Amino acid sequence: MKLLATLFLISLFTACNTNPRSEYLAIAENADNTETEINQEHPGKKLMENNCYVCHNPKTAEDAMIAPPMVAVKMHYISEETSKEEFIEAMVAWAKNPSEEKSKMPGAIKKFGLMPYQFYPEETIKQIADYMFDNDIEEPEWFDAHYKQMHGDRPQMKGRMGRAMGNGKGMGKNQNTNTQPSVNDRGMQMAQTTKAELGKNLMSQIQKNGVIAALDFCNVQALPITDSMATVHKAYIKRVTDKPRNPKNKANAAELQYLENFKKQVTAGDEVNPIVVDLGKETEFYYPIVTNSMCLKCHGTPGKELETLTLSKIQELYPMDKATGYGENEVRGIWSIRFEN
Ligand code: HEC
Ligand code: HEC
Repeated sequence: MKLLATLFLISLFTACNTNPRSEYLAIAENADNTETEINQEHPGKKLMENNCYVCHNPKTAEDAMIAPPMVAVKMHYISEETSKEEFIEAMVAWAKNPSEEKSKMPGAIKKFGLMPYQFYPEETIKQIADYMFDNDIEEPEWFDAHYKQMHGDRPQMKGRMGRAMGNGKGMGKNQNTNTQPSVNDRGMQMAQTTKAELGKNLMSQIQKNGVIAALDFCNVQALPITDSMATVHKAYIKRVTDKPRNPKNKANAAELQYLENFKKQVTAGDEVNPIVVDLGKETEFYYPIVTNSMCLKCHGTPGKELETLTLSKIQELYPMDKATGYGENEVRGIWSIRFEN
């Protein structure tokens, strides 16, 4: 009876496609015994795939991983004693401020470098953690062997983890259904993979060669990398802004309006949803690009985060530069993506 009521409520929430988040959380907590049944509906699953799988993707080959797979993260954060509340709290704390002191995976930091900070609404992380705690997370094919090699035999998974894995009803099973990804998902994936590609290159340039060399890199490579991702995705991908560094990246009138919308949402700390425009044969997809502390080295306040030497190099490369004076968690621009339906 309880199960039926729960499923009914969930279908109500998802059917009208409003924000099911807070209501959902409350329901999931009441429905302790039904977690595998509601598995496919959980909003945390999509949020995790959109926000975290850019780097934590179980489908990536072992030698191409740029971060540990999510199942490994889960194993390091949940032991038999860990309550769901503790787990959610730890995930939120990590996402707010990834740091070596807080790490439970120092080996991963050594291998991949520290996870770059990125703004996520707290509610998003809570939903992801809520989903991760109750559900089986897809494992890469190579994971079992890797685990045995690194850590010996795998511990008997107890509690929720064991239950979910035992009955084989996890994500792994749902992955290969041939439902077409929605245009929304496709746009988001293009934005996220392009961002990851740019971000990864930028981070390693700064780490290896310093900010000035990284500037040269952005100057020469930002547009070609974006273009090459556009080729990969067979789409038209741009990063545009109201305050361009490169005049080629100036937003048009429509884009400016979307950008203003996103600014309001981000300032309010709201969950940000992409803007999707259906043009019949094509879809337009817009999503904000938000700053973190790393960006300020080149987009921050001159004399503060933006050092004088960096600034003069920027002015040399971009005499018309408008892209300074940003703080953290501000909308620096938007992804403007167009692709065929
Ligand atoms: C741009 C790449 C990237 C994205 C996107 C990303 N991560 Fe990470 N994450 C990493 C890397 C690299 C590590 C391993 C190094 C480390 O632990 O800092 C990591 C490690 C972690 C850890 C373990 C931290 C520790 O050391 O104890 C957690 C928890 C985590 N990520 C959660 C998330 C969640 C949740 C998301 C999505 C909301 C996410 N990550 C998105 C790159 C990323
Ligand atoms: C090492 C310096 C550097 C860092 C760090 C940096 N950028 Fe930039 N950024 C640039 C340069 C240079 C350009 C111009 C690229 C071009 O010519 O296309 C640029 C351009 C952009 C653009 C395109 C619009 C425009 O103004 O031309 C966006 C959006 C952007 N950066 C966002 C970010 C974000 C977000 C971060 C942090 C995650 C970041 N940048 C970090 C140097 C940097």
